[in-house]
Amino acid sequence: MQTLLLLPGDGVGPEVIAEARRVAERVAPDLGLELGLLGGASIDAHGEPLTAATLARARASNAILMGAVGGPKWEGISRNLRPEAGLLGLRKGLDVYANLRPAVCFPALADASALKRDLVEGLDIMIVRELTSGVYFGEPRGIETLADGTRRGLDSQVYTSTEIRRVARVAFELARSRPRKNTAYSGVLSCDKANVMETGVLWREEVTRLHAEQFSDVPLAHMYADACAMHLVRAPRTLNVILADNLFGDILSDEAAMLTGSIGMLPSAALGDPGTPGLYEPVHGSAPDIAGQGVANPCAAILSLEMALRWSLDRAPAADRVRQAVERALASGAATRDIGGALSTRQMGDAVLKALDQL
Ligand code: IPM
Ligand code: MG
Repeated sequence: MQTLLLLPGDGVGPEVIAEARRVAERVAPDLGLELGLLGGASIDAHGEPLTAATLARARASNAILMGAVGGPKWEGISRNLRPEAGLLGLRKGLDVYANLRPAVCFPALADASALKRDLVEGLDIMIVRELTSGVYFGEPRGIETLADGTRRGLDSQVYTSTEIRRVARVAFELARSRPRKNTAYSGVLSCDKANVMETGVLWREEVTRLHAEQFSDVPLAHMYADACAMHLVRAPRTLNVILADNLFGDILSDEAAMLTGSIGMLPSAALGDPGTPGLYEPVHGSAPDIAGQGVANPCAAILSLEMALRWSLDRAPAADRVRQAVERALASGAATRDIGGALSTRQMGDAVLKALDQL
């Protein structure tokens, strides 16, 4: 039996995962749903944000659907025992190196974007972020006190050619399967800081080499990451697949999220090699400011379930139904506060379930 491990985590995580769970029970009743603890919830129960047992269960499942981790309660804890360390440990432990973060502007939400409607209507970008290397994991790192009492912080940005090539491959393959745009950046736009960083030089060389060897049919362009940040708000619809390292991808994906109207709408997938479990999570995080109020938008979690059905569970028809149901619910006017409505998390879940029944 296929299993989906639910890790609701902290903040609004449990609220939105509860709705995704109801949708999963409806569209995939034979799927084995399991429940585990991650982040602050795991710290409170076990003293650490990710236990070896939870990682083992994650590895043994077909996919993992995560809510969010972190919150003010755990902010004072040392870095390697904080909720975020659980998430990083899970990504690393599952070796899910390719993070797919779509930024899609649903027609019903174009006016909720920070940009004008004519800039974002029909927006459909996919950010492919490297997720298990770079400055997030590079050694050496740390904070030390020098002889004269000055404190010194150190992080290392490290990439190998293998790490760059395997994530670039995912971006090229995705671009092949997506509709080509009639713009200068119609295929893959690879971002780096090759003008100042050695890893940037290597990144550009390896992406270019892989492209020439195996993907010369896919249009490829390069851009400095800062220029890409600018381009994202100037002419976002000209972009298709954006490839970036772990840190630049983190920043660019938050920026892209804002273009779509609400970060409460955006799912993500983290994939490893074929046949290994994928990790799915809403982009929005634990949102401590609204946690516990039952007003968070469950759509990002429900759409993360959709991605899990499609990419890890081989259930494309069920995934299509979930997608259509969310679109119809939105089109019928169902909306949580973040997208200009007044529905609670549960009511929004109800609207999606109702739309599912009507498909
Ligand atoms: C994200 C988040 C995480 C990251 C944090 C919570 C560790 O910002 O998934 O984008 O930086 O990767
Ligand atoms: Mg982030």
